[in-house]
Amino acid sequence: MANKSWVVVSLVLCVAVAVVSSSDPGAPLIFVLGDSTADVGTNNFLPTSTARANFPHNGIDFPSSKPTGRFSNGLNSADFLAQILGLRRSPPPFLSLKVKSLRKKRFSGVNFASGGSGLLDITGKTSLSLMKFGTPEKTPLAAPSINQKNVVSLTEQIQQFATVKRNLTAIKGRRKVTKKSLFFISIGSNDLFEYYHSNSSIPKEEFLTSLLLAYENHLKNLIDLGARKFGIISVAPIGCCPSQRIHNTASGCLEDLNDLAVAFHGRLDALMFKLSSECKDIKYALGNAFEMTINVIQNPLPFNFTQVDAACCGAGKLNGESFCSPYANLCLNRDNYLFWDLYHPTQAASKLAAVTLFNGGPQFVTPINFAQLAMA
Ligand SMILES: *[C@@H]1O[C@H](CO)[C@@H](O)[C@H](O)[C@H]1NC(C)=O
Ligand SMILES: *[C@@H]1O[C@H](CO)[C@@H](O)[C@H](O)[C@H]1NC(C)=O
Ligand SMILES: *[C@@H]1O[C@H](CO)[C@@H](O)[C@H](O)[C@H]1NC(C)=O
Repeated sequence: MANKSWVVVSLVLCVAVAVVSSSDPGAPLIFVLGDSTADVGTNNFLPTSTARANFPHNGIDFPSSKPTGRFSNGLNSADFLAQILGLRRSPPPFLSLKVKSLRKKRFSGVNFASGGSGLLDITGKTSLSLMKFGTPEKTPLAAPSINQKNVVSLTEQIQQFATVKRNLTAIKGRRKVTKKSLFFISIGSNDLFEYYHSNSSIPKEEFLTSLLLAYENHLKNLIDLGARKFGIISVAPIGCCPSQRIHNTASGCLEDLNDLAVAFHGRLDALMFKLSSECKDIKYALGNAFEMTINVIQNPLPFNFTQVDAACCGAGKLNGESFCSPYANLCLNRDNYLFWDLYHPTQAASKLAAVTLFNGGPQFVTPINFAQLAMA
């Protein structure tokens, strides 16, 4: 009974929103939400954030070798997804935007992604996350105060989207957020990292249930705000990051973490199927970042990768013991590395991921790929 009335409520919501956002011509707007895999400079605007990358050697392959805040030697997956859709790169970070930019003819969307963030509001805000993100100077960090702004949580990213939508609606004659707008979401790794490394007594299945419940709430909030087309990227084999391999005596992947990533994908797949049957006009493509990446790790040479264990930029074992910084080691053949730093893919790996999301078959992206999503 309770279930049935929820379905009715959500159907009403779908219809109401569809009427409010009437059809508009032109290219779809792109909104990006998520963590450091998609951050294009959000955290540069958070003075106390330790999850930052706006210093060399980051950005060494970006135009003018500019460190923009991307956790990459160049572009990241959000950039390549936008590029395939005809933009120069990802839309700019929300925190860099003035309302007048929304009036510009070339306004293409907004990127809200924030390094260190997760599905849970607490993720990225604990001392555990500070262990993860050291400052490049290696200065001792003061204990984080609860009020310090280290990351923009997904909850806050969605609130920011709501303000953008309000502003766009207020600007007469501008393209509005419509059913055609694309929402790219890449998040979940940090929740899994923090759960795993906290040695939590919460059982794995129970934790995943709470995580996916959080994901469901976020997606429903976006749906209530008019979002209909979702390009979602699940969690990569994060146990294979250099930062995790160093915990393994043989430098192999941490299988328990990888198992969490696989289980997360399965749960997310089921959630998306459920949401799309409850709200019929939702379209989605779910990228299986685990399959995509493990496929490359197991067979790297056809993809031009010769190094899939160590990071290109970093220090210590596998360059996986500290973040990329001006003082870190830097590899020369960056296009041959899967990992740029201890957690993040190189530009070459990000490009491969975006191309696979767009054109990949059902092994990598279901039930349709990102190209079909864009056309739908
Ligand atoms: C939009 O409007 C809100 C006020 O509701 C403002 O705080 C926000 O920063 C504005 N900017 C953008 C880019 O949407
Ligand atoms: C979790 O356990 C490992 C191994 O026993 C230990 O090295 C690590 O410090 C623990 N982490 C936390 C946050 O308690
Ligand atoms: C493969 O890697 C080499 C660097 O060793 C680079 O020069 C070349 O452009 C790469 N090829 C492709 C197809 O990315």
